[in-house]
Amino acid sequence: MADAFSLQWLIQAIIFILPAYVANAVPVIFGGGAPIDSGKKFLNGKRLLGEGKTWRGLLSGIAAGFLAGAILAFTVPAEYAYGLATSQRIALAFLLSAGALVGDLAGSFAKRRVGLPRGYPFLLMDQLPFLFMALIFAFPVRVLSLEELVFLAVITPVLHAVANRIAHFLKLKKVPW
Ligand code: CTP
Ligand code: MG
Repeated sequence: MADAFSLQWLIQAIIFILPAYVANAVPVIFGGGAPIDSGKKFLNGKRLLGEGKTWRGLLSGIAAGFLAGAILAFTVPAEYAYGLATSQRIALAFLLSAGALVGDLAGSFAKRRVGLPRGYPFLLMDQLPFLFMALIFAFPVRVLSLEELVFLAVITPVLHAVANRIAHFLKLKKVPW
């Protein structure tokens, strides 16, 4: 096992979470069309999830995250994948991707409940639910150490901000967050 915060430890943690990152990013490119909540509103009169959460985004995100994780499962050596078997790593690819997008929906649900309109920034609510839900989904295959959890919770909002600025610069997103 790699020492906490050694280079191998850092690289492993990032490779581990990549399917969730891919799943979360791809809907920006392939999303759109019918919203998952089909326009339905909830108790506070605001949308259940909002126009930004679509079936196409959900399915393309899970598919792309799974594909990315499957490619990693066949290419990255086991010592950079916590010694897990290929089958476990393929299961993780799906669990992390599906978890990421379920967490993303939960974040939007929470934003609508406090009355924030679609696309409005909500620090940490935009960045952490997808990460934590991905990790919860991954639990049956791998439980992270506390150090890994803290490390990912710190780098994810930073990477999220950088990725969104790039997406805005490339005119993929109207807003830079
Ligand atoms: N997207 C999608 N389907 C999803 C998730 C995202 O189509 N399940 C697309 C939408 O075009 C969305 C964009 O990806 O606008 C960026 O995602 P995100 O920032 O999560 O959504 P917001 O539009 O900011 O909406 P919210 O306020 O609900 O987070
Ligand atoms: Mg947003």
